[in-house]
Amino acid sequence: MKKVLVHVLLILQSVWPGSTTFSELNNSDPKFSGPINNVTVPVGRDALLTCIVHDLVSYKVAWLRVDTQTILSIQNHVITKNHRIGISHTEHRIWQLRIRDVHESDRGWYMCQINTDPMKSQMGYLDVVVPPDIVDYQTSQDVVRASGQNVTLTCTATGVPPPTITWRREENAPMLWMPDNVNGDDDGEKKEREVYSVESQNLTLWQLQREHMGAYLCIASNGVPPTVSKRIMLVVNFAPTIWTRYDTIYVGVGQKLTLECISESQPASINFWLKDKELLQGGTYDARTVDHVHRIVMRITVRPLTKHDFGEYKCIAKNALGETERSITVHHKAKKHVQHSHQTSSRDNQFIVIEDIRQRLLFALTTTFKILAKYTHYYAIAVLTLMHTKNVTESQRRVPPL
Ligand SMILES: *[C@@H]1O[C@H](CO)[C@@H](O)[C@H](O)[C@H]1NC(C)=O
Ligand SMILES: *[C@@H]1O[C@H](CO)[C@@H](O)[C@H](O)[C@H]1NC(C)=O
Ligand SMILES: *[C@@H]1O[C@H](CO)[C@@H](O)[C@H](O)[C@H]1NC(C)=O
Ligand SMILES: *[C@@H]1O[C@H](CO)[C@@H](O)[C@H](O)[C@H]1NC(C)=O
Ligand SMILES: *[C@@H]1O[C@H](CO)[C@@H](O)[C@H](O)[C@H]1NC(C)=O
Repeated sequence: MKKVLVHVLLILQSVWPGSTTFSELNNSDPKFSGPINNVTVPVGRDALLTCIVHDLVSYKVAWLRVDTQTILSIQNHVITKNHRIGISHTEHRIWQLRIRDVHESDRGWYMCQINTDPMKSQMGYLDVVVPPDIVDYQTSQDVVRASGQNVTLTCTATGVPPPTITWRREENAPMLWMPDNVNGDDDGEKKEREVYSVESQNLTLWQLQREHMGAYLCIASNGVPPTVSKRIMLVVNFAPTIWTRYDTIYVGVGQKLTLECISESQPASINFWLKDKELLQGGTYDARTVDHVHRIVMRITVRPLTKHDFGEYKCIAKNALGETERSITVHHKAKKHVQHSHQTSSRDNQFIVIEDIRQRLLFALTTTFKILAKYTHYYAIAVLTLMHTKNVTESQRRVPPL
């Protein structure tokens, strides 16, 4: 450093205007009024370095760039060709070096000199900070994995000072995350925990389940605004799951009955009904996709007339990861069950006779799907509609409504 300063001084002396005489210079003793304040500026802004002197009289003040040994200004003349540099002073006391549109290369030491003999000088540091920026090609893209697999999401960001990377889930949902310290402290047992943020460049998720699916945010911050983030969608493929609200139903001969199953899967499944290994035609399949989960509400209407129409109905959903089925058993409603059912809508004369497998109870509910829709979220339902119980004529019986 000392060597550099001497060199700078020599440069300075060689260009120093010789307008003042020696006797004039000897008459005063200029001094600095205080140190140069260090300055921290985000890239692209303006920086102002201030040098305050007193008793300057006819001595002169110069600004130098220490690292590059460049004279920037002498008195109120800008010497450097850098057009971003400006100089201003107030009553020969306050000398301000202005650097417009600061670049990272402007970071470093700046010197304020007075051309006394020996010269007097002091230095201030200009720090240039850079807001964080996510390096896209070194950061994970949206990713699809099969359940059971592991995944590592990675995020790289630049910035000065180096940014901290934090992972979160969108809408601040908890993450199922396992700390990956190899030398596990408690019996070396790794356990998955629910956490809301993980501070790490890489986020590893083990043995993916459906619950891991969702948007993950990589957030880079270093105290210099703005903080930036990238959204990475993690899709977990899983075999279909099926819900049925009821799996045992009692119904009388000729009564109309709508069976319902709800499946969820990723990717989308193929759904169908089987009765005694025979494919049933005519069902409805309402598909809806929410957050990469494909939900299919499958319904089929039956009207059991013969013994063959009673028995086990199977709803099946199948995708690349597997096949899932559920059964709904339709029993003939014997006399002993009558006491358990009751009419819920006298206007429509409709009945639903349902038995919940767990409670082994018969319920009576209205057939209105609007009401049932409340329950369809994670339950599937089987609905029996008894229409015009007293009106099932022979002609109707001969036309199965499948
Ligand atoms: C400045 O002048 C004084 C006398 O006024 C003299 O003693 C001193 O040596 C001079 N200083 C320099 C650096 O010539
Ligand atoms: C400027 O920063 C340097 C170190 O970076 C420190 O030694 C010096 O005291 C600082 N000056 C002021 C005025 O804070
Ligand atoms: C996931 O990571 C665990 C632990 O490192 C390993 O035992 C397992 O084989 C990995 N699973 C897959 C599908 O790579
Ligand atoms: C994160 O993963 C990348 C490669 O996937 C690796 O180069 C980097 O060192 C990892 N970072 C940390 C902090 O482990
Ligand atoms: C039977 O059907 C006839 C018309 O088809 C209707 O007028 C009558 O109200 C129905 N009876 C019952 C009990 O619903």
